[in-house]
Amino acid sequence: MIRPKVLITREIPSPGIELLKSECDVEINKKDRALTREELLGMVKDKDAVLCLLTDKIDAEFFDASPKLKGVANYAVGFDNMDVKEASLRGVPLSNTPEVLTEATAEMAWALLFSVARRIVESDIFLRSGKWEGWGPLQYVGPGISGKTLGIVGPGRIGSSMALMSKGFNMKVLYSGNRKNSILEEELGAEFVPFMRLVKESDFISLHVPFLAETKHMFSASVFREMKKSSIIINTARGAIIKEDDLLDALMSGEIAGAGLDVYEFEPYVTEGLKSLKNVVLTPHTGSGTIKSRDDMSIMAAENILAMLKKEKPLQCINPEIFE
Ligand code: DGY
Repeated sequence: MIRPKVLITREIPSPGIELLKSECDVEINKKDRALTREELLGMVKDKDAVLCLLTDKIDAEFFDASPKLKGVANYAVGFDNMDVKEASLRGVPLSNTPEVLTEATAEMAWALLFSVARRIVESDIFLRSGKWEGWGPLQYVGPGISGKTLGIVGPGRIGSSMALMSKGFNMKVLYSGNRKNSILEEELGAEFVPFMRLVKESDFISLHVPFLAETKHMFSASVFREMKKSSIIINTARGAIIKEDDLLDALMSGEIAGAGLDVYEFEPYVTEGLKSLKNVVLTPHTGSGTIKSRDDMSIMAAENILAMLKKEKPLQCINPEIFE
């Protein structure tokens, strides 16, 4: 029997690879980097399905280069790297990996929030430098978290999870988005407020909206001007929701107090000035990076591919309309 050919565009955790190998001939990019565009287009020519990353652009040119394609599984929940309309026009199903990375990403948002508010990275660097001469009342004091106001922009799966994790900190929770979230209201007494009210009243603002034309540069100079001078912004969603140059200006001019960023407008490029600011903590897009999440993402993506190869609707289908 002829086995279907699958490309995995960069090494992922083994559970998903093993699952695919049980039914398919699998080619994996073993280089410790993303494929170049030329490499990707060359490698998809004879493939029946592709397990790709958020760094791979899945667009008309990609589909032109892969005439046998029966499906593409994104190893990510966000799918702004995929031209969904184009895939649907060509009848190619797409899938993503929701749910299995919700808590991991929410934890990362908290990790960044704590790191900035309690100045963890800055004080760690100081201690390692050998300059610490003993306890001091003014050393590395920060604003603290308990009792403050947390603003969640986008109360979907990850935003809600982050909000619910605030339970132990006696916080006031505001949220804004497309619709009310009854769980947040019942469990936390959270308040659904207009975006600008959230911006003006929050001590911490955490972003959890997908990257769309409407969310591009949702945070730019005019919004930073309205934030509290003591406020801290956290982004574990997509970089271009923030206009990075404007964020740098806002941080440098003291318009806001700090930022914790896991994602960047022009990844992997990070606006240079951000790297020299002490009130900024930067991580390399590792929000979903727990062992369990990454393993589960690999299994979910593999299962989606196996379904697509059988012409079945994958469980996490992004364009289900093509099966109607
Ligand atoms: C996603 O899943 O969209 C994250 O950005 C990477 O896991």
